Amino acid sequence: MRSTHKKCLGLIFVSVGVLIAVFHTWSNGPSQIVDIQPRGESLLNKVLAQQYPYLTSGHESIAYHVKDKVASHLALNSCFCLADKESFQLPLSSLLFPRVWAHKLDAAFLESHPDPEGVKHHRAQEYSNFQKRSYSPADLPIIAEANSPLQYPTQGVEVRPLKTILIPGLGLKEEKTKHEVYLTATLGVFDVAATVNGVAVKGEGEKLMTLSSPFLPALNRQLQFVTYTNTVFHPKTADTVKFATDGHQAFFSIKVGHGPMPKLYNSGYQKEYNISALVTIATKTFLRYDKLKDLIDSIRSYYPTVTIVIADDSEHPQPVTGPHIEHYIMPFGKGWFAGRNLAVSQVTTKYVLWADDDFIFTANTKLEKMVDILEKTTLDLVGGAVREVTGYTATYRHTISVEEGGEEGDCLHMRHGYHHVIDGFPNCVVADAVINFFMGRTDKVQQVGFNPRLARKGHLEFFVDALGSLHIGSCSDVIVNHASKIKLPWGQTDSQKAYKSFRYSSSTADVNLHNEVFYFNNRFKCMTSQ
Ligand SMILES: *[C@@H]1O[C@H](CO)[C@@H](O)[C@H](O)[C@H]1NC(C)=O
Repeated sequence: MRSTHKKCLGLIFVSVGVLIAVFHTWSNGPSQIVDIQPRGESLLNKVLAQQYPYLTSGHESIAYHVKDKVASHLALNSCFCLADKESFQLPLSSLLFPRVWAHKLDAAFLESHPDPEGVKHHRAQEYSNFQKRSYSPADLPIIAEANSPLQYPTQGVEVRPLKTILIPGLGLKEEKTKHEVYLTATLGVFDVAATVNGVAVKGEGEKLMTLSSPFLPALNRQLQFVTYTNTVFHPKTADTVKFATDGHQAFFSIKVGHGPMPKLYNSGYQKEYNISALVTIATKTFLRYDKLKDLIDSIRSYYPTVTIVIADDSEHPQPVTGPHIEHYIMPFGKGWFAGRNLAVSQVTTKYVLWADDDFIFTANTKLEKMVDILEKTTLDLVGGAVREVTGYTATYRHTISVEEGGEEGDCLHMRHGYHHVIDGFPNCVVADAVINFFMGRTDKVQQVGFNPRLARKGHLEFFVDALGSLHIGSCSDVIVNHASKIKLPWGQTDSQKAYKSFRYSSSTADVNLHNEVFYFNNRFKCMTSQ
């Protein structure tokens, strides 16, 4: 057993230190189970060789033993499209223990496409352009070598485009008689804001500047006055600075870019939340004017002056009038997400509340609670609950994660549940996707947007697009009623809904569109859900 173990592992030689470094770097990634034996081992080795070639040298003769428990949590760019195995079937077992299903998006989309190789190539090209656009030199790992006499900032140095800053924290500690350091950059130049006697400075105003002195304190004083001026305009990038003596070198990055532009809403000074000043209710309607009227009437009994924005793509639109109502007529059948986009684009208040046209406000529909949590936490969006005619109340909480999958695309995993309860709000949790009844910061919801190609169905697509940019919560104590007796879509269990929206869309073209959005736009090869 020992010798097989050795034989199996003996092929790969990497130092334990490197393993730890990689574990650390990747531990924030998705935590799906990855099989790393035996294929995974060579993958681990490949990744090390590709990403840290300068670190894998030097300890080849020392063997290591993979610790499965930890290593299996590493994302190794090789996600699998695996469904749960079918187990015994009891009545209700699928409700109690919802099985994970897997949908191979690449197979589903490509097999119906007339030119699968062409579309794969095009997707790869678009992805490579996307990576170039979103790459920042500040994302590169920088390793500090052992026992450097150099002192320098490791993060938090930032300069506005074409502006000048003092570089904080530069210093040298060494026991020599002659001291010399130099700095290099690629997107800017160095200078000194003051001179110190006994220090020679060469290359002021250039990309390479050298400072030398026989007196270490004088040199360290001079280093406090070193400036960096960005000279190559780019609104969002980073410059990697090298700071070195002849024997040692250190690297750190200076972020180059404008600060985030605030987008503040002037809602007037208030002691209590004034919903009319803070919130606009947005909805989309198609033919259901009786339902829409009930929604508006119910809103008016609780919030008489809140603005309601209605996007309407009915074929023969009927007038919807009244105070604080904006009715936008769209071309016939423009669709669900196009309507959401239009309605949300017209909102001028800090928050927008999304409601379907067949919802009914009740005394439990307390928008103040949603405003309160958005005002007091870092959440960007908070979902409520929808009560069916039957009494069943749904919050539709899901978590979403993405696991890297290499050239074929990544894997999208959706599960029931949430991440954690929110401190101070016992009825509220943090999740990645919530129900169709939510309040969000208007500017953030507009930033994510709703893909207008999704005409008939679409809900999770918005939350997939929002992953990484919106912080999302869900509160079970803000409840709106659902008027329709037909159990669509909230009368079903969450899993039925998710499944249906992806698998049983009304037409082949619709299924294809959803496959395309996930396969091409979001670059997934696989989706698993419950
Ligand atoms: C609340 O806001 C609305 C709209 O901005 C405004 O007309 C109304 O006077 C405000 N109410 C109070 C009590 O401040």
